[in-house]
Amino acid sequence: MRNRHLLLALILACSPGLAGAAQQRHLALSAARLIAPEQARVIEHPLVLIDGERIREVREGGAVPDGYEHIDLGAATLLPGLIDVHVHLDFDPSFASGNYYKDLLTLSPIDAAVLAPTAARRTLEAGFTTVRNLGSAEYIDVALRNAIDRGQLPGPRIVAATLALGATGGHADPDTGFSPFIQFNGASGVVDGADAIRQRVRENVKRGADVIKFMASAGVLSNEQSVGAPQYSQEEMNALVDEAHRWGRKVAAHAHGTEAIKMAIRAGVDSVEHCSFIDEEGLKLARQHGTWLDFDIYNDDYILSEYGKLGVPQAQLDKEKLVGRTQRENFRRAVKAGARMAFATDAGVYPHGWNAKQFAKMVEWGMTPLQAIQAATTHAAELLGRADQVGAVKPGLYADLVAVEADPLTDIATLERVSFVMKGGVVVVPHPSRP
Ligand code: ARG
Repeated sequence: MRNRHLLLALILACSPGLAGAAQQRHLALSAARLIAPEQARVIEHPLVLIDGERIREVREGGAVPDGYEHIDLGAATLLPGLIDVHVHLDFDPSFASGNYYKDLLTLSPIDAAVLAPTAARRTLEAGFTTVRNLGSAEYIDVALRNAIDRGQLPGPRIVAATLALGATGGHADPDTGFSPFIQFNGASGVVDGADAIRQRVRENVKRGADVIKFMASAGVLSNEQSVGAPQYSQEEMNALVDEAHRWGRKVAAHAHGTEAIKMAIRAGVDSVEHCSFIDEEGLKLARQHGTWLDFDIYNDDYILSEYGKLGVPQAQLDKEKLVGRTQRENFRRAVKAGARMAFATDAGVYPHGWNAKQFAKMVEWGMTPLQAIQAATTHAAELLGRADQVGAVKPGLYADLVAVEADPLTDIATLERVSFVMKGGVVVVPHPSRP
């Protein structure tokens, strides 16, 4: 017991967090404008005062107070650090060889773990200071999250799901479509029946999950026939959500199909991912339950233009053709219906660091630029339950900020080229005028 206390004391003494607090920096960040999405307002000539990793105060103009180091971003526009609520940092098309079957048979989760830090760095450098990792092999996301939190690797704050839960033969089952004599070994989220599902939720929590992800329906990039059929019974979904919520974890359901979306909402999930075939009743149910709808509407372009080259089976490309257009039309309907919507790209399906390409799609399909920015800041933070930590530039929150050179309220695509990134008061991408 005494040894344990000694060990704890040692760990605390060596922790970079505490060392950092001792020599806290005071920074004053100024720019031409600050977009404050949570107030739907633009602040002219902002002066953001930062103590250590947190924001102390946001002033409108005025002189830099004594003791504060000044970083002036000139004509740039500041925004809160961006949030993507659906990524997979342990996969990226650039990690693939072009031979789908060869990759499946030769790459292991260790390869994924080696490459994941690159994905994390690209994500952060693109201005995404927080992400929700919705499914990862072998708890890679937990190890990555912890290494980033300890300051050992550059990367965004990660809300980790660990293994995605799903039915035998479903979207989370890697064995589907292969000979029965081939099995992909390793930690698995494949689980059936209410009791076993409850146990699996507890296991994920035990291993470090911040959120629980499950496959309510079939999917595109997997070998089951359907693209949207329900893959759990209502009873199974109810048990999953009940158990996750008991442990204080939110639930994200992958669902393309009309019925599966409604079943997930009725079960009480916090967000539905993809939402491709959502109908009027689904939109109404989501409103009644306060469910977030996360549409990954950039994916279709990338999958259709690139996935043939990666050797992905034609059957999967055919499934993509079934969802792509309808998903975008339903995104527009959801915007019109006033649904709660957060920015979710499923990056990993397309290259990490390209996350912001989805903003232009969201505006093309019915959001105002401000709504698209709110989806990736204010609303994403609400969905994560972390609005007191991230998603806004206001006192007490982490000093996570990005800057762009054009006005994103008139030119949303400028978010694809952030000129400055700060995470927790540390400059990650310096502004070109102040390298
Ligand atoms: N991970 C998702 C799936 O395999 C990707 C769907 C992408 N397609 C789209 N149109 N959003 O089902």
